Amino acid sequence: MELTAEQFSKLSKLIYKKLGLQFDEKKTYFLNKRVEQRIAELGLKDADEYLFQLGYCDANGDEMQALANLITTNETYMFREFEQLAGFADVCLPELIAAKQKTTDRRIRLWCAGCSSGEEAYTLAIIIREVFPDSRNWDIKIVATDIDENVLKLARNAVYGERSVKGVPTVYSKHLIPSVTGFRINPETASLVRVEKLNLHDAKQMKAMRGYDFVFCRNVLIYFDDESRRSVVNHFYDSLNPKGYIFLGHSESVGRITSAFHLKKAAGHLLYAKD
Ligand SMILES: C[S@@+](CC[C@H](N)C(=O)[O-])C[C@H]1O[C@@H](n2cnc3c(N)ncnc32)[C@H](O)[C@@H]1O
Repeated sequence: MELTAEQFSKLSKLIYKKLGLQFDEKKTYFLNKRVEQRIAELGLKDADEYLFQLGYCDANGDEMQALANLITTNETYMFREFEQLAGFADVCLPELIAAKQKTTDRRIRLWCAGCSSGEEAYTLAIIIREVFPDSRNWDIKIVATDIDENVLKLARNAVYGERSVKGVPTVYSKHLIPSVTGFRINPETASLVRVEKLNLHDAKQMKAMRGYDFVFCRNVLIYFDDESRRSVVNHFYDSLNPKGYIFLGHSESVGRITSAFHLKKAAGHLLYAKD
């Protein structure tokens, strides 16, 4: 099966509207295959019938969800982009702790947005347990969210294969417990993480996310266009507490799409901070 140019255009517009993800013509083969799979699973006749179902018979969003589970790119592993994490561990986190220690506030909230199978969120949990010995006496939560239900199951399971854990520094390996199927994140470390489904393109869900000290949204916005990036980043701004930070992937920048954040250098790395 091959989508015609008109079918491809209809499909990519529907996906963009619901998920903010942009698919150009270079992705035709990729989308063809996914739609083919859904047509077979649903027992439909052809792509027109599928597009009708997706566009007009999906009030509860079940089919868009099924498609989302197939079209997202979920590449991730623990301690990815380690230098930036060092900026978090050595500068941003100690700075926040010192500021909170001058008050009665013992709450720290992190949001790992587009967490995929959870490796990034558990990496943050390991870092916190390692660099902040008093963390057990604080109220700390890392909320890990994604749109893809398949990866969320893996994130909740918190057991990872060799490929996911190979970047974990040896000194931190005590947080990984060897099991029959891989490495389980130490339950005490894992207890910092709460996994939830959230669509970054859903304004209602985004408005419910408030009071975060750090937002990590790394290697997610590359799949969005400037308009949806701006909308997502503006929501992050509202989600952050004053002096909060947003961490994006290496190839991503908010400077071009909003001036709301100011650029800060920490341990030689550029970070975006809220005033
Ligand atoms: C490449 S992974 C990045 C994982 C991790 N942040 C990292 O840097 O290793 C991108 C993730 O973004 C998620 N994603 C894409 N569009 C989304 C949306 N509209 N809402 C929520 N998550 C989305 C995908 O499902 C995918 O798991």
